[in-house]
Amino acid sequence: MTQEKIIVLDFGGQYNQLVARRVRECNVYCEIYSYRTEIDKIKEMNPKGIILTGGPNSCYEEGAPTYSKELFELGIPVLGLCYGAQLMSHVLGGKVERAENREYGKTLTHFDTSSPVFKGVPADSIVWMSHFDYISKLAPGFKTIAKTDNCPAAAASFEEKGLYAIQFHPEVLHTEYGKEILFNFVRGICGCAGTWRMDSFVETTVKELRERIGNGKVLLALSGGVDSSVAAGLLSRAVGKQLTCVFVDHGLLRKNEGDEVEAVFGPKGSFDLNFIRVNAQERYYGKLVGVSEPEKKRKIIGEEFIRVFEEEAKKIGKVDFLAQGTIYPDVVESGLGGESAVIKSHHNVGGLPDYVDFKEIVEPLRNLFKDEVRRAGLELGLPEALVFRQPFPGPGLGIRIIGEVTAEKVTIVQDADYIYREEIAKAAEEWRKQENKTAADRPAWMPDQYFAALTNVRSVGVMGDERTYDYAVCLRAVKTIDFMTAEAAEIPFAVLQKVMSRIINEVRGVNRVFYDLTSKPPGTIEME
Ligand code: XMP
Repeated sequence: MTQEKIIVLDFGGQYNQLVARRVRECNVYCEIYSYRTEIDKIKEMNPKGIILTGGPNSCYEEGAPTYSKELFELGIPVLGLCYGAQLMSHVLGGKVERAENREYGKTLTHFDTSSPVFKGVPADSIVWMSHFDYISKLAPGFKTIAKTDNCPAAAASFEEKGLYAIQFHPEVLHTEYGKEILFNFVRGICGCAGTWRMDSFVETTVKELRERIGNGKVLLALSGGVDSSVAAGLLSRAVGKQLTCVFVDHGLLRKNEGDEVEAVFGPKGSFDLNFIRVNAQERYYGKLVGVSEPEKKRKIIGEEFIRVFEEEAKKIGKVDFLAQGTIYPDVVESGLGGESAVIKSHHNVGGLPDYVDFKEIVEPLRNLFKDEVRRAGLELGLPEALVFRQPFPGPGLGIRIIGEVTAEKVTIVQDADYIYREEIAKAAEEWRKQENKTAADRPAWMPDQYFAALTNVRSVGVMGDERTYDYAVCLRAVKTIDFMTAEAAEIPFAVLQKVMSRIINEVRGVNRVFYDLTSKPPGTIEME
């Protein structure tokens, strides 16, 4: 891509992805690289600006992540944040020391508003601080442009050289004018025009895919999730029928979901591609007979997916490209993009499956964040219900059924879940009407993820005049930002009651409904 670009050099800070997002929110394209990236590579990329992130180390300690002085002499503006600010000062001849007290949290800061990086920022406002070390002596040529009661150099600059060292975190929302500060840097100081948009992403990517793929054949495993669906949309627009999508219905999808995927991507849908649906329900149920240990279930379902996909791929024969819906957080979490510790080894990244005969891998979403993937999906004309779909685990309902998975239990959990989703949607719609809100607004109680699971508990009940001995369904609903921690959502009691009575009346085999109040930790979001 020849578009203007900002490079974020990652020193292991926890907010590195956030920095990249904020830059993209300024309509400027941005990528994260490890601080180990060679200077020549940086020069080659010809960025309009460089941002150094925070990090957990002390820059004066031996072996701490560093960068050569040359970086600051390229004539490219550099913004150092937290550790990045300290490192810039340290490398350029200033002094960084351990402070007596850690400065942490929301902190009132006084700004020199004549500095171009603080244009439009009030003289006093709140920033987010998180540091032990501080810049005790500025590097030659630098001047102080912000301070707090505890931090004499909350920000410093060498304006003529385009160097800015900021001790706090403008990328964090707690910093009241953080967005403005980053905007001032990328759009003002770096002079970026701000032309990065989703429609231009779709257009350029389609063009690039066409050039790269030529007359080649492409194979994509389509799950019906957001990422693989958007990848399918892009590839279909680029190469049409040269793309084959294999959709494996493992019989553990939500109610009607298999048909919904087919409606969008199948022959009656609006995308130009070859769509193969494999109805492997019986095969999966067969493999799962007698298995109740959750990890074992996950393994069986995962392995069976590979087997089914492999068989289909064999029928197609040699393909030139295997496409994957890998997105940017997958790349970073796998430790391939930035410097942060490997959080999970993502199945999409790194290891290539060896069971399909292909020449190259293509990952058209590799540089996008989730919300950007969604915007690209809308741009491509994918239905909103698909684009804003809740997260759904690969092993599907297989891990929302405690104990052995059977076809009967799958139907119970599908039906209960469908009612639950329907009632939540109705209640949210009702709220919008009453409060005069738009379709994009959500009530405060609206969970970020919610579903029904089937417990392995059967108990006595009474229905009509008859004794029953049936299953208990568990409703789960959580509020979460990153899915790493979560709280139970406070769904209005009336809504829960309605769901309960509908499930008991409409779903055979259920006579009790529980609501799971457990937060994560100690619980997980899924109930397996
Ligand atoms: P837990 O249960 O670990 O779930 O708190 C956190 C988030 O991850 C989703 N999840 C998965 N997603 N494959 C996925 O793609 C999986 O195997 C898987 N397991 C859990 C879960 O739905 C929640 O959003």
